[in-house]
Amino acid sequence: MEISCFSSHLGWATCVLVLALLLRARRKGSWHPRMSPTDLTGKTAIVTGANCGIGKYVALDLAHRNARTILACSSRERGQAAAEEIQRATGNPNVPLRIVDLSNMASIRRFAKQIQQEEKRLDILVNNAGVSGLPFSITSEGLEQTFATNYLGPFLLTNLLLDTMKASAPARIVNVSSFVHFQGMVNMKHLTGEERTKNFHQTYRNTKLMNVLFTKELARRLQGTGVTANSLNPGIVKTQIMRHFNWLVRLLFSIAGIFLMSAEEGAASTIYCAVSEEVAGVTGKYFDSDCRLMLPSAAARDPGLARKLWEESERRTGLAESRGM
Ligand SMILES: NC(=O)c1ccc[n+]([C@@H]2O[C@H](COP(=O)([O-])OP(=O)(O)OC[C@H]3O[C@@H](n4cnc5c(N)ncnc54)[C@H](OP(=O)(O)O)[C@@H]3O)[C@@H](O)[C@H]2O)c1
Repeated sequence: MEISCFSSHLGWATCVLVLALLLRARRKGSWHPRMSPTDLTGKTAIVTGANCGIGKYVALDLAHRNARTILACSSRERGQAAAEEIQRATGNPNVPLRIVDLSNMASIRRFAKQIQQEEKRLDILVNNAGVSGLPFSITSEGLEQTFATNYLGPFLLTNLLLDTMKASAPARIVNVSSFVHFQGMVNMKHLTGEERTKNFHQTYRNTKLMNVLFTKELARRLQGTGVTANSLNPGIVKTQIMRHFNWLVRLLFSIAGIFLMSAEEGAASTIYCAVSEEVAGVTGKYFDSDCRLMLPSAAARDPGLARKLWEESERRTGLAESRGM
């Protein structure tokens, strides 16, 4: 009896171990940034949310390739610490910090104006910053906080920087989405909180679907300009993304962390889209965490929905007015 009980436990333990090892093996992508010799001397890149997590490792890689790497962060203190760390690690002194709150459209306009005044070119824009687990809240500008940070902010920022990018072509825009976009849905009333999603998980999924739809429509509008736009899923990555969840979820995420990708590993698919030779000229596509081209969800491939979302976003951000539409 005792022997059979012991062997059944041993059986389970072996299964768990094998599964864990498979998960660990699976998390290693087929592409590594070291595989790309791309040198970015003379090029300028912006990475949003570059003070920690995936964004910091993306910025580190771009700085290592000698790009002028602008860290677009909401906190001066955290951003400065990251800038100094990246400068030390890469020996590249050209890693300036610029402050932007992506949930605030006025802050984004100020940031874009500063970039237009200071920078002669912009070759790579990585829309990486994001939040999850925030409770429903409306900003002073009448936008729902998570939708503003994860989707409307990057939408406005990208549009304001497009002329500079077109003048620097070939240039690349990279939007960090997630596999959870497969469970996302689009309701324009969510952007302003006129209607609420059923919970913050659904809010996050919806914003990540919007990232893919935005990328598709952006790529369509940029045809022939030499500026490409792609989105990706970084994988399940051990970062501070769960910081707004309760302590139990954070604890479980932290324990599960040994099986998850590190922030450095999780940065690979973003770096792939930003610098790899394979992605040169590729646009409107979605890449998985192992840097493989993948079909996004059916909703993410709906051109009518993408156009509708774009037009609504132009209205909500005031872009339509500034374009005299
Ligand atoms: N980790 C994952 O498993 C996973 C999976 C799929 C997709 N993603 C996506 O990957 C991207 C990076 O996330 P991460 O995992 O690296 O999380 P993270 O460690 O929490 O980093 C998020 C970054 O976004 C910044 N940010 C948040 N709100 C901002 C705002 N209003 N204005 C400017 N910056 C803001 C944060 O700055 P502060 O530190 O100053 O707040 C931080 O630098 C996100 O788009 C996320 O949705 C992550």
